[in-house]
Amino acid sequence: MKYPFEYGGVVTGVAFCNREKEIGDLLRAMENAEKLFVFSERRYGKTSLVRAALGKLPRKGCLWAYVDLWPTGGEATFVTSVAKAITESMSTSVGKVLETAKKFFGSLSPSVTADEEGKPVLTFGLGKQARVGPALDEVLETPARIAAKGGPRVVVVPDEFQQILEYGSDHVERKLRSVIQNHHQVSYLFLGSRKHLIPKMVLDRNRPLYRAGGHYPLGPIAEKHWQPFIHQRFVAGDKGIDRRCVHEICELTQGHPFYTQHLCHVLWELCEPKSGINTEMLQAAVKVLLDRESYAYTTLWESLTLSQKRFLKGLAGETTGVKVFAGEFVSRHGLSSASSAQRAAQALLAKDIIDRDNGSFLITDRFLRQWIQSVQSA
Ligand SMILES: Nc1ncnc2c1ncn2[C@@H]1O[C@H](COP(=O)(O)OP(=O)(O)O)[C@@H](O)[C@H]1O
Ligand SMILES: [Mg+2]
Repeated sequence: MKYPFEYGGVVTGVAFCNREKEIGDLLRAMENAEKLFVFSERRYGKTSLVRAALGKLPRKGCLWAYVDLWPTGGEATFVTSVAKAITESMSTSVGKVLETAKKFFGSLSPSVTADEEGKPVLTFGLGKQARVGPALDEVLETPARIAAKGGPRVVVVPDEFQQILEYGSDHVERKLRSVIQNHHQVSYLFLGSRKHLIPKMVLDRNRPLYRAGGHYPLGPIAEKHWQPFIHQRFVAGDKGIDRRCVHEICELTQGHPFYTQHLCHVLWELCEPKSGINTEMLQAAVKVLLDRESYAYTTLWESLTLSQKRFLKGLAGETTGVKVFAGEFVSRHGLSSASSAQRAAQALLAKDIIDRDNGSFLITDRFLRQWIQSVQSA
């Protein structure tokens, strides 16, 4: 049986809730060959949203290359990943892949081999002696070459873009800057999941991508969109849920798409057919979720220093937007000084446990926040 609430992977079709305004915004950006940095916390729905928007592009005269940078660790893998994405976007059939690869990226020694299931996979290799610089130029110039002279409209989507900060040099960032400025025909949508890093890359004068494009922060999904989405799914399974319960779910998760779906999934499992959700069930579902995560949360908690723990406890217990470096917060939560709070925040940011939020911070995992409140603040 397929469960009605999906959490984890990319969601499509009926499993995809609303985002109509965002889809419209992105389609317009793509039409106008804009360069846009789309960012939010992890699991907020960036990949699903962009995929939904790409799916609405006209089939004819339009070409898009989606490249996941998450597995890349340096310029060489960046180059081969982008080359692969571009090649695949242009190949109408599997048989054509190698031909296309040779035509555009002959210098990257393309080859097609079979995977375990016998399916063909395209690989590129940068010879050990080869210099990455020219290959980087070649790959990044290709979208504009394809779009030139009445060619198709081209959209390039690098996902998990903050990964390039791990490369150890800013070559890719610098090259991208010139590419972005000169490719008038090509649209670039850069997706990033380190909410605090992306604005930094674009708004810091000292960085190569300073003002290289617009930025588009992706927000949560509003309760008014979750209401029908969640309701319909319960009803289809012969289970009931009222508006108030959906409202409570949205309050608990703050509309965060992944956590909303995850909580709904647990609730749906707890609820017998022909019965309905009530507040007690909702509390039970939260408990189930926290118990499931308890091992991971405990491990994480034990890896933190005392002042990091205190900082997190303070953040979990206070209302959003609290001024964490103010004397009051610092003394209320047993932090020795504002600078110790600052160090704790830096370390937690680097570990992706917290993120910047309107001059304050938030705990990125909504249920970790709940867990800290219920287990650690006792
Ligand atoms: N529009 C949406 N409708 C319903 N669920 C969504 C939506 N967008 C995201 N989600 C939920 O969030 C999860 C993560 O989505 P994903 O697109 O991978 O986020 P990101 O790319 O920002 O990490 C999905 O598995 C799904 O549970
Ligand atoms: Mg993603």
